[in-house]
Amino acid sequence: MAFSIGNYSIEKPVILAPMAGVTDLPFRRLCHQYGAGLVVSEMVTSDVRLWDTNKSRMRLVHDAEVAPRSVQIAGSDPIMMAQAARQNVELGAQIIDINMGCPAKKVLNKAAGSALLQDEPLVQKILESVVSSVDVPVTLKIRTGWSPDQRNGLTIAKIAEQSGIQALAVHGRTRACKFKGEVEYDTIAEIKQAISIPVFANGDIQTAEQAKQVLDYTQADAVMIGRAAQGRPWIFREINHYLEHNELLTPPATDEVQAIVINHVKALHDFYGSFMGARIARKHVGWYLQTLADTTPFRSQFNRIDDAQEQLDLLNEFFVS
Ligand SMILES: Cc1cc2nc3c(=O)[nH]c(=O)nc-3n(C[C@H](O)[C@H](O)[C@H](O)COP(=O)(O)O)c2cc1C
Repeated sequence: MAFSIGNYSIEKPVILAPMAGVTDLPFRRLCHQYGAGLVVSEMVTSDVRLWDTNKSRMRLVHDAEVAPRSVQIAGSDPIMMAQAARQNVELGAQIIDINMGCPAKKVLNKAAGSALLQDEPLVQKILESVVSSVDVPVTLKIRTGWSPDQRNGLTIAKIAEQSGIQALAVHGRTRACKFKGEVEYDTIAEIKQAISIPVFANGDIQTAEQAKQVLDYTQADAVMIGRAAQGRPWIFREINHYLEHNELLTPPATDEVQAIVINHVKALHDFYGSFMGARIARKHVGWYLQTLADTTPFRSQFNRIDDAQEQLDLLNEFFVS
């Protein structure tokens, strides 16, 4: 089931989707450790003048152990995109991923993300400009089109392949669909049939069984998992196990979940410093509690704590009670 992106062999057909504000280095490490074949960093703007903000600086941090290091860039100017790609490679990126799949307002205002899908000649210019500016593989993430009546994902996929893109992730919705409506796995299957670079199927996959169904149905080379990994990084292990053995893995025992949560929160404190780290930990802990179907008042109690050590103490108490 392995496939290649340029010289990189990806051994597991399950990929962590880029999610701004979520897939930071601590989370990418965790998902990689639990079996994600590839993890993609949070998107960074192609406007390198903005890289000096604290937020961008944190997004540009990579480490050697989670390889290949795929870094996502977003923007609409071919020259700026090429420059951003080159600078990311200098900072350690081994794969450049271009975001044309994100309907985020911030991105749309600058006509980046999925808004670009309307302008096929510009898509081609951006892709060719980035591909020719770096020696590393360039990948692309798209939606199935701009709107249901302008579903040009297939055309974009062909443009991508001709422009030298080495893998394509497809979120099976149009931009206008945001996160609503059924995911169109048919369009993903059609795209897979039409091009010969690896295709990743993305959208609404929440279980190992769904992952297998989507792979079987679309014939995609991998599934890409976004929201289902929030508070459940072990989903990658579950999917790999099901694909390899055709049997469902039992959910992790409480002591394993405790260790995952504690280590994740500690990693956030270390990475962001205790002040920011404690704040960022709240949202991840919230997701873990959702996964655990926790109905106690613990979450609101946890969210009132600012001190990093107190957060860890309270979490340990939660798990033993
Ligand atoms: C909080 C959040 C942030 C996201 N940020 C990005 C991003 O930076 N770049 C991108 O290409 N897609 C982004 N996405 C879209 C996801 O990569 C993915 O395509 C989408 O969530 C559908 O997959 P899922 O149903 O498995 O979550 C984001 C999604 C979420 C929920």
